[in-house]
Amino acid sequence: MTSADSKHADPPGTLVIGNNVPSGETFDAPSTTPNGSQAQTVDHNPQNYYTFRDAEREVEFKRHDMPTPWMNYLSNGTFHTMLSHAGGGVAFYKSPQIWRITRYRFFHLPMDRSGPYFYVQNKESGAYWCPTNEPAMNKPEEWKSAHGMGYTRFEAKRDEIAAKVVYFVGPYENSLIWNLTLSNEGNTAKQLNIYAYVEFGMMEFMRELQWQCYNKHQVSVRYHKAGALVYRYGVENQPKPEETPLVYFASDAPLSGYDGDREEFIGSYRSETNPAAIENGGCTGSTLMGGDPCGALQFSITLQPDERRTINVFLGTSADEAGVEKAIARSREAGFVDRSLQALKENWNAYLGVWESRLPDPDAERMINIWNPYQAHRNFLFSRNISFYATGTFRGVGYRDTSQDILAVVPFDAGLALSKLQLLLGQQYRDGHVNHYFFPNEGWEPVTTVHSDDHLWTALAAWDLLAETGDAAFLGDQVPYYDGGQGTVYEHLKAAIDFTASKLGPNGFPLMLRSDWNDQLFRVCREGRGESIWTAMQLGTVLLRMVDLAMASGHPEDVAKYEAMYEEQRKLVNSIGWDGRWFRRAIMDDGRFLGSDEHDEAKIWLNAQTWAIISGMAEPDKGLQAMNSVRDMLDTELGIKKIHPSITTFPDPADPLTNYNKGTGENGAVFCHANTWAIIAECLLGRGDLAYKYYRQLLPNVAMDKAGLWRYKAEPYVYASNLFGPESDKFGLANVSWLTGTAAWMYIAATQYMLGIKPVLNGLSVNPCIPASWEGYTVKRRFRGCIYDITVTNESKVSTGVKSIIVDGEPIQGTVIPPYSERSSVKVDVIM
Ligand code: GLC
Repeated sequence: MTSADSKHADPPGTLVIGNNVPSGETFDAPSTTPNGSQAQTVDHNPQNYYTFRDAEREVEFKRHDMPTPWMNYLSNGTFHTMLSHAGGGVAFYKSPQIWRITRYRFFHLPMDRSGPYFYVQNKESGAYWCPTNEPAMNKPEEWKSAHGMGYTRFEAKRDEIAAKVVYFVGPYENSLIWNLTLSNEGNTAKQLNIYAYVEFGMMEFMRELQWQCYNKHQVSVRYHKAGALVYRYGVENQPKPEETPLVYFASDAPLSGYDGDREEFIGSYRSETNPAAIENGGCTGSTLMGGDPCGALQFSITLQPDERRTINVFLGTSADEAGVEKAIARSREAGFVDRSLQALKENWNAYLGVWESRLPDPDAERMINIWNPYQAHRNFLFSRNISFYATGTFRGVGYRDTSQDILAVVPFDAGLALSKLQLLLGQQYRDGHVNHYFFPNEGWEPVTTVHSDDHLWTALAAWDLLAETGDAAFLGDQVPYYDGGQGTVYEHLKAAIDFTASKLGPNGFPLMLRSDWNDQLFRVCREGRGESIWTAMQLGTVLLRMVDLAMASGHPEDVAKYEAMYEEQRKLVNSIGWDGRWFRRAIMDDGRFLGSDEHDEAKIWLNAQTWAIISGMAEPDKGLQAMNSVRDMLDTELGIKKIHPSITTFPDPADPLTNYNKGTGENGAVFCHANTWAIIAECLLGRGDLAYKYYRQLLPNVAMDKAGLWRYKAEPYVYASNLFGPESDKFGLANVSWLTGTAAWMYIAATQYMLGIKPVLNGLSVNPCIPASWEGYTVKRRFRGCIYDITVTNESKVSTGVKSIIVDGEPIQGTVIPPYSERSSVKVDVIM
């Protein structure tokens, strides 16, 4: 037993900072266990695990044995690799469902296998190790790794050999580039064997689980005369055989050996930790016509003292044999790798160059400038598809999820955002409802459950696009309906409203249908009578936007209808929707309220309070009281719980609303996505200190510091979907990091509401809601072709209220700065 076990002893609900170990103090287990493997050292000081390098937009890791794999996504939009800080990961072309290239064993032990690994072997001694640290047993004497924007880097030393590897996917080829540089830091020549290894999986992940025994004999790995291995997934009845690429595994260095058969390279009863071929002196030259495929390349080199050598390996895809040959030839051209890395960096500089802020809070500044927009971009690409927590098996593009992801891409790349919006609208039926999930790459049938909220979300994205660009033309673009015919973007959005209008329940609120934003609610509305009070608020929010969209697209005739509908729902929310101290969440099939003081469980639900404010529907005293109830009943040291108290028996012990254990997932956990709306709501109420408290406590590194690294476990640089709540014995455990609506909405909450810099139809609105103690901050924001160089000064120490705005020396009226398309930049001074 190591000291790690002590972390399991906390009683439920206790937030033990650093699990009782004072910060800085470390508990070191003996460095080897009796059976010879290295013991895990449990160190509770986060600084010994990672540091941020903000100038480089990197986070650097000092140890490989993190509580969980801390991931990065390397991608050019077509070819993708999820890669951990210790080199585990999975590569796929377009779709992890049907074109997964390498195998990653989700949930299996050993953790975080397999990955794109290099092995460095001293030929004389036979000893070998990995620059990624994992998976070889011999560990580097010095080691660090880092995630940056679209790349992951490893630097390691052992036995006088220094290795640096940069993995990335460049813009020019669909390949993962492994850029290895070795140097001999000793005084004698070194004879080395270098191996590059990947385990190929079957491209269809579900088929692999179900039919591997037969279909594995329909794949092949051949040696190509260009000096490469080519993997072909030739399985019968695969979904899109004509679009299934060949996979190449090649290098720009001469090969001394190769293996395409995993059994030959790894051997039986072995693993990536001790491949037989490496221990037996070299690759066997195997190819594979059926079996368990892999790619292994061997390079035998001699490094003189001080000599440095670079070996690049390319794991890529191309449509056919000729394409493979061309791709390999291009990849071997002088300078290809440097050019690719340079272009990757320039693309990210350009993307993130839209916004640059300097804030009094360095944690917030780093998140807002770097990691939050980066994470949001990855959500936009992958929806909720593949992460360490999601296996990339089934969830394609979620209509609801992706509609929200678009919001945080609009400021950076309106064109990209618009094409995604159109993709989503193509999933809408003429009556206005939409497919819940769909599979544009796989061509599978969509998931057609009908939810009360899905179809409404896209109007928010459309409004944001209009405000960002000031150009309403896209509202007139024709987009097909899923069930035939086509309509303009505006007509699609209007159909969504009409659908909800045609699906109101007995009390007048929108019917819940399958569920609303909260997936779990189907349990209380199975009979189809249940109504969602929250959806009424979402609808209200959308109707306010629809008024603008109707005017901008030349449909003023629709405005009165939207306004009347808003008014009708607003009245209902404030009457039937009001419980006395907070807003109710829903009306169940049996007519009883959900989210009411009359029950013992799930009395209060966060979303119904925040959206009452966001929609502008809450009467002022009710809105304030509702958000006070959030503060008093739902807020914790580690974020705001989604409901209180957690559910065990409600509404029926035999059929509770959720099966989640208390304090986990959807049941009394801190659901980070929903926390973002509390920040926005508090900003709308003008309570800057509270908004900031809610914002800061969920900054991942801040939450990790408070919960303790071994409790929080997930990455400290990207948001997680939820943290276990105080009713769980693992309060503070973060789950489902990376792919979560938290990313987009935190970005919106922080930039548009806290910092208050929000595109609106007639310009850029500047209306901060910050902690009163902040003396000011600066933001450079590119907007409609002009850089707004904004300095906010808060000498009055207030949270809200703009006294004056001066643009290039000229005072302006109000808080909206007009667009300046004729100037390349303007200097904006904002006095609070
Ligand atoms: C998950 C789902 C999202 C849903 C949320 C709340 O994050 O991806 O669609 O809104 O859970 O249930």
